[in-house]
Amino acid sequence: LKNCYILGIESSCDDTAAAVINNGVVLSNVVATQKIHEEYGGVVPELASRAHQQNIVPVVHQALRKANIDKKQLNAIAFTRGPGLMGSLLVGTSFSKSLAMGLGIPLIDVNHMQAHILAHFIKAEGQSEPNFPFLALTISGGHTQIVKVTGYFEMEVIGETIDDAVGEAFDKSAKILGLPYPGGPLIDKYAQQGDPKRFKFTKPKVSPLDFSFSGLKTAVLYFVEREVQKNPNFISENIVDICASLQFTIVDYLMDKLKNAVKQTGIKEIAMGGGVSANSGIRTALGAAEKRYGWKTHIPKFEFCTDNAAMIAMVGELKFKHQIFAESNVAAQARMKL
Ligand code: KG4
Ligand code: ZN
Repeated sequence: LKNCYILGIESSCDDTAAAVINNGVVLSNVVATQKIHEEYGGVVPELASRAHQQNIVPVVHQALRKANIDKKQLNAIAFTRGPGLMGSLLVGTSFSKSLAMGLGIPLIDVNHMQAHILAHFIKAEGQSEPNFPFLALTISGGHTQIVKVTGYFEMEVIGETIDDAVGEAFDKSAKILGLPYPGGPLIDKYAQQGDPKRFKFTKPKVSPLDFSFSGLKTAVLYFVEREVQKNPNFISENIVDICASLQFTIVDYLMDKLKNAVKQTGIKEIAMGGGVSANSGIRTALGAAEKRYGWKTHIPKFEFCTDNAAMIAMVGELKFKHQIFAESNVAAQARMKL
């Protein structure tokens, strides 16, 4: 099919998003970020679901308008079926089912984690396509996974977090340091001005390819409490060094796991995605690994790293071309395997 237009809809967490893709090229990519959660320092599921209900119609309209196409031109609708928050997923799922039915076009269900990985196949300037097989490192506020990818739909999780996601480690540590939510970008900003070797945080020990971050957060809490007792201004006087040391520990930990994965699989091509891939430390470390170990690395444009619907539309297009459609009774699924 020459001209295939797919509408993607994403509502798994706290972003309501819609996008239109045409032969791998993103024509529009609209995201309504829910500000309401900031005052709670984390995503509140019930509020997220309500905000999705308010946002979804205007967001879809905007995506179609920006793509400059009419809904009658759409070939299929792709939506996030899971994993994610049930109340949030339900909004996107029911909306997509009704719209597809109304337009009489196929519906395509998409796994959100698979979409983060297939976002690498979006055709965009400054973005490179990985070659199979490759290792995907997906790091965000909700996920931390290493996946062995041998084909578009052939993926195997070979490592993942046993507790918090890496973005949570950033955000929860930031909260302890009195920084606003989400604190990851701020930690990164301060880290770039500080001494990464000033303070030592122990890297949590789990099996070679898995991750654990809850212990790190507790270590930061105890460390800060202890130091503040001695000097009430400890945080403000040392914020750049604390952030640099913490970021150094986290990045080093991620790199350890990647090195283990490369060693175990023999695959040296790495595709990184998720919101945390914006982090300057991990970007520098990956760049260094390319030179030192001969790895080949890929990072999508930032708008395709954070939660977005372009990646959902991308999977939709791939499934459409392989004629893989959703069952008519498809239902949202909070927990979902790759
Ligand atoms: O992918 P994303 O937008 O949403 C999901 O969680 O799915 O990722 C958001 C996460 C937050 O935890 C945020 O603090 C983190 O990505 N993040 C960063 C940076 N930019 C975003 N963490 C560290 N350094 C950054 N530069
Ligand atoms: Zn995500």
